[in-house]
Amino acid sequence: DTNKKIVIAIDGFSSCGKSTFAKAIARRLGYIFIDTGAMYRAVTLYALEHGAIRSGMVDEEAVVRLLPDICIDFRFNPERGASDIYVDGDRVEGKIRTIEVSNCVSAVSSICEVRAKLVAMQQQMGRRRGVVMDGRDIGTTVFPDAELKIFMTARPSVRARRRYDELRAKGDEVSYEEILQNVLSRDKADMTRAISPLRKADDAVVLDNSCMTVAEQMEWFEKEFRRAIGDG
Ligand code: DC
Repeated sequence: DTNKKIVIAIDGFSSCGKSTFAKAIARRLGYIFIDTGAMYRAVTLYALEHGAIRSGMVDEEAVVRLLPDICIDFRFNPERGASDIYVDGDRVEGKIRTIEVSNCVSAVSSICEVRAKLVAMQQQMGRRRGVVMDGRDIGTTVFPDAELKIFMTARPSVRARRRYDELRAKGDEVSYEEILQNVLSRDKADMTRAISPLRKADDAVVLDNSCMTVAEQMEWFEKEFRRAIGDG
């Protein structure tokens, strides 16, 4: 049944093109796209702006105290054809992608109370199915019953290059070395944290896109989607 709405969980390493892929799928299917990494980044930004992170040191108790006050929501932006993330009514799409936020987000996302709050929000947003959600723990923790789980990966050098090009295009003065170190240290932090570490769900299909174009990935997806809805 091609009209059946399902949950598509996309997990994987940082900067391997998860959101580009997830956005393309959502557009193709008319599903809602939810970038859960943006939610962890938004909490990190809020913590930075409210003194709970100083000189790169995350004060966990201070972050937990701020949590009830953080109001996060997504609003569809027709110009981008995707949703923008807002914190307390401010659009923070640009502010959450800086290297400063990137360097602190692993520590913030390893706080139990932060995960509990964001996972509950994500489950609420996907309750009616028809969503593509990208993150680290979607297929394992947020939607263990997702009908289609995709685990994305790409070589670290490829991922660092992509993020470097992205930041440079925005005018950020970063070095490739710095980005590669950030990619590697986040991989490690994401895979070794105590709660919901990044792990491929047993029933996830792997997509290594190191040498694939977006069009090739979409072709791969069509087959997996048909299989997931029992139509091929
Ligand atoms: O996908 P991203 O690089 O924007 O994610 C930012 C950080 O948030 C990443 O270092 C890990 C964390 N994260 C998480 O712990 N769980 C998720 N579901 C999504 C992201």
